[in-house]
Formats: sequence, C-alpha cells, structure tokens
Amino acid sequence: IPRERMRNFVIAAHVDHGKSSLADKLLEIAGNLELAEGGERQVLDDLKVERERGITVKARTASMVFDDHLLNLVDTPGHVDFDYEVKRSLQACQGALLLVDSTQGVQAQTLANYNLARDAGLQIIPVLTKLDLSHSDPATSLEQIEQVFGIPEDEVIWTSAKTGEGCDEILPAVIKRLPPPPDAQALPLQAITAEENAASPPVAKHTMSGLIFDSWYDRYMGVVCLVYVEKGTLQVGQEFFTDSQALGQKRSQGFQVQEVGMLVPQPMVCSALRQGQVGFMFGNIKDSSLARVGDAISDHLDGLTQDEETLEARKVRSTPKVYASIFPLDGGDFDELRKSLERLLLNDSSVAMRPETSGALGNGFLMGFLGKLHMEVFFQRLEDEFGTEIIATAPAVPYWADMRGTGERVRADIPAQLPPKEMVEQYLEPMAHTTVIAPIEYMGEIFRVFKERRGVQTGVDHMDETRVVIKHDVPWQEVIVDLHDVLKTVTSGFASLEYEEAPPRVADITKVDILVNGNAVDALAFVAHRSVAARRGRAVAQKLRSVIARQQFEIVIQAASGPKIIARERIPPFRKDVLTKSGKTVGGGDMSRKRKLLEKQKAGKKKMKSVGNVELPQSAFYAMNERD
Ligand code: GTP
Repeated sequence: IPRERMRNFVIAAHVDHGKSSLADKLLEIAGNLELAEGGERQVLDDLKVERERGITVKARTASMVFDDHLLNLVDTPGHVDFDYEVKRSLQACQGALLLVDSTQGVQAQTLANYNLARDAGLQIIPVLTKLDLSHSDPATSLEQIEQVFGIPEDEVIWTSAKTGEGCDEILPAVIKRLPPPPDAQALPLQAITAEENAASPPVAKHTMSGLIFDSWYDRYMGVVCLVYVEKGTLQVGQEFFTDSQALGQKRSQGFQVQEVGMLVPQPMVCSALRQGQVGFMFGNIKDSSLARVGDAISDHLDGLTQDEETLEARKVRSTPKVYASIFPLDGGDFDELRKSLERLLLNDSSVAMRPETSGALGNGFLMGFLGKLHMEVFFQRLEDEFGTEIIATAPAVPYWADMRGTGERVRADIPAQLPPKEMVEQYLEPMAHTTVIAPIEYMGEIFRVFKERRGVQTGVDHMDETRVVIKHDVPWQEVIVDLHDVLKTVTSGFASLEYEEAPPRVADITKVDILVNGNAVDALAFVAHRSVAARRGRAVAQKLRSVIARQQFEIVIQAASGPKIIARERIPPFRKDVLTKSGKTVGGGDMSRKRKLLEKQKAGKKKMKSVGNVELPQSAFYAMNERD
C-alpha cells in the first residue's frame, strides 16, 4: 500500500461520549470483525496469519483496510494523568475524529482533546454521536462546535453507533480529509508465516527510526511495544535502541526485534512495518523502564535525540505529582509486598517507589504517581493481581521550601518531610490550571467551590446561550482531594472538569501533626493553608474519633500546628467483648453463633494497623482528605 493510501488517526472524546462503540462500528464496516471470526475478507484473508501468541491487546489500536487504503486507528491514553503520553501518541497521527455526544454537547475533555489535537497539527473531523436517542439535541451541539472550535456545520458528520446511521461516512471522510503520513515509502503490505518471519533478510542499517506510543509487559514476550515507524523499515532480527535505554546508558548493545505485526485488532504477524505504519513489536526487553511510552527508537544509538530538551521532557514527565505511603497489613509481609510492587512496576515504569520507614507504621514504601487516577488503578491492581493487602496513606502532593540563608529549594514529597517554618524563607505549593464547562445557572455555585479552595479565576467565556467555560488556577492539592466530586454534586452532574499542571505558587502553608495518646503519627500528618489549618485539624480529629473503635483504654487525639495544639478529641474506654451484645451474654448453647461473631470480629480487624497500642482502620488514614 503506497504512502498516499495510508492514514493514521485517533478518536478523541469526553468520557462516555461513545469512543469504543464507534471504534467497534468502524472495524465492523472495514470488515475486521468478520476477519476476527474467521469470516471471508478478501484483501486480508490470503495474508492472514493466525497465531496464538496471546498478546494482550490492551490498546484499542487497530489497522483496517478500507477502499484500498490502510487506515490505522491509534488509541491514546485519554486521561490527563498521562498528558505526555497522549501528546506523543498524537505524533503518530495526522488526524483526529473528535466525538461530541449530541445529548451532552461539548464538554471539558472535548475541549482539552481539541486543543491537544490542534497543537499537534492534526486535521480534525468532528462527529456527532448518539443521534438515535430521543433527547439528543444536535442543533445545540452544532452551535457549540462552531462557537468553540470555529468548525462550520457542514463539516460535522452525524452518527449513531447504535443504529449505524451515518457511520459509513466516517472512513471515506478519513481518506478524503486527512493527509497521509509524511514521506512514507511505497512498499507492499504483506503478512507472512512464522518461518518466513524468522528467515527475513536483514535490512540496511542506520535507516530506521520510530516512536513507541504504547507499551506493556507480557510474561512471555517481555515488553510489547506499539510503534509508529517514522522512517525506514522495522523488521525481525534488526537491532534497535530506545531513548530510555540510551539516556540511562544502561546498555551499549541494543535489543533485537523478535516479531512485528499489525493489530486488526488481534495481532497479525507481518514481515516488516514500513515507514508511516503503526503496529506491534517485541524484542528481548525484560525491563519496561527501558522501552517507555514516548520513547523514540532507532536502529543505531546516534539516531536517537539526546539533546537537553528531550532529557528535560523526560524528567518532567516522570516526576510524580501525587504521593502515598503504603505499608503491609502485617509487618512480616514486607518482602512479599516488595516483590509484588517490583513485578507491577515492570508494567508501569511511570510509578516511582522507594522504601520508607514510618515511626508509627514501620517499614513500607513511598510511592509516586502521575495523578490520583493513576494511583487508584495501581492500588487496585496490587490487590486484584497479587492479593496484596496494604494500608495506604491519603494521597499527598509535593511542596517546596526555599530555605533561609542558603536559598536552596527543598522538595517535600510527603507532609512529614516539610521543613519547619523557622528554617524556611518561603513555601511553594503545586498548582493546576482548571477548565470547567457547565450550564450558566450553576456559575455562582462553581465560583463558590473554587473560592473555598483558594482558586483564582482566570477566565469566563460563553460557549453559547446556555453554557459557560470557566477557568481557574487552583492548588493541585484541592484538585486531588475532591474537586471533581464536589463540582458534580453542586451542578447535579452537569459540570465537566479538566486540568493541567501549572507553575507552583508561593503559599502560606503549615504542617498539621496528629497525635494519638501524645505520640505524633507521621502517616497522619497533613499540609494545609494557614488560614484553614485549625479548622481542618478539628475536622480531622473529629473524623478520627468517629472511625477509631473504642478500646480498653482512653484514646486522646490531638491536632497540632508546631507546638500549638489546635484540636483535641477523646475516645472513652470500652471493654470490647463481642460475646456480650447489648449487655446480654450470647446464649451458651449457640456455639456457631459465637463462632460467627468471633470470625466477624477477626475479619473486621483485617484492614487495621496498630500504632502503639491503638488500632487504626484504613479510613483513619483518609481522614485528612475528607471534607464536609
Ligand atoms: P470511555 O471509554 O469510558 O471514555 O467511554 P467511550 O467514550 O468509549 O464510550 P462507550 O463507547 O463505552 O459508550 C458509552 C455509553 O454510551 C455506552 O453505554 C454505550 O452503549 C452508549 N453509546 C455509545 N454510542 C451510542 C449511540 O450511538 N447510541 C446510543 N443510544 N448509545 C450509545
């Protein structure tokens, strides 16, 4: 397939606007789904090599042949936590289908996706979805598309993935309106057998370069990469290098390509991936930190960009934006926890991990993530895939302190590391630029929510007669805690929120310590703006009182800012004997009932961590991130 007949594109949409449904429909139209079921499909069928390699098709990246064109649908990680990765994937593409749910109109993520696509120089094809629904309102959506993106009505494709209406227009529009990849060579597309694959002749050196836009770890194959070949040919047997490997100078010897192919969306082994094509590739890469999303690849070391800018971009993207400490439930499981973490990290090299010892909780790990969603997914996987039970501290954001005298800028990843005020010239807090899109009538409520969170309004635009786009700069900590949920609540679900990192701002912050029976529990400490520190301290102490069970002795909880106690709560002692319920002893004859109660108590104990002789449940560690 010659270069003029290749197209690489993404589908961009706000959450739930119908991206997966439309992608499936397009594959069906191109005949890929028949192919998957072993149906007849001429163009690809003769070439088809079915191999049970068990490649996990994590991404919804898929190649289709339609009207004698090779169309590659490239999936991007949609969430802002992965902003850098999204930007890199877009470099493999020349166009974007921008979906707008006709029942909801343009939302914050639609706008963010549009900006990303436009900045990457992509051609945009707007697509209205869900037109079959009775409450669909295409006129309003069209007006917003014109108003916000300046795209005229006649460029918008009307569709319903449910009924199939309008979907036939999409692939012809992709061919007609999007440009082919630059400088792609005219080379035949062919699939081959495994034997032929292994016997492929080597290609000339120093000619290939490309980009990894997704990668994951597979137990059998090692790191599997989805790549876009920018130049030359990627072929079995070829030696290749990656940015991460070259920058880390971990190996001077490259990896070797073991297999390449296309995803349709199931893997189809090919002889080679030619210039302009996207597909999968794996070599003998055992360490996922050496082949990361966003890395350039090349068949020679000097083929890789090693300039400062690249280094800087790499550093910035891998700097965690959210931290949490985790501890094994039972101190003895520490080694097991480490093993699970190490294995999981092979899959996600953007997670940072280092051992940490908490005075209160013992040995654990400080984990760094790109965002809160990233963190939640990771913890979920830790439990699901490894059955590892942990106690995690509330997600915290890093702060900086400019030290008095030396002027040195110190970074505190967790509250316990924040240097005391006496040593500090000024503190800085991380910030976010936020964009909210909502119906006009909620404007007042939205302003109030941001004001309470020390947000600074930076812009308000009318999208049409009924909706506004509101921008703020707000402390990143506030975004982490509950901003999204609160905005949804005060707007009955109508607001959508997007955010991106902004430069840090000087802030009057203080560390609040929490003391349990006179001992400061480092894992419960938190950072707050001085103006709200006392109020938050009281709220956290009250929350702790409500979640910590009475024990056989009195428990005193205090919040302190420096030497000053700002809140005090008391949990009176209680003889905790489950065999006595409401003052009555459970009948001596009913042994199974007694056993059940004891088992229940044991299970209830599971997610607890002892601090001194006080047992703290998981919810105690989240107390500081809960607000009324
Ligand atoms: P995320 O991957 O979660 O962002 O969602 P998505 O954008 O991929 O949306 P998805 O395709 O999962 O669709 C979201 C919901 O809308 C699902 O319940 C779909 O069944 C429904 N949906 C998608 N397209 C249509 C459509 O054309 N008509 C109707 N009635 N429902 C649709």
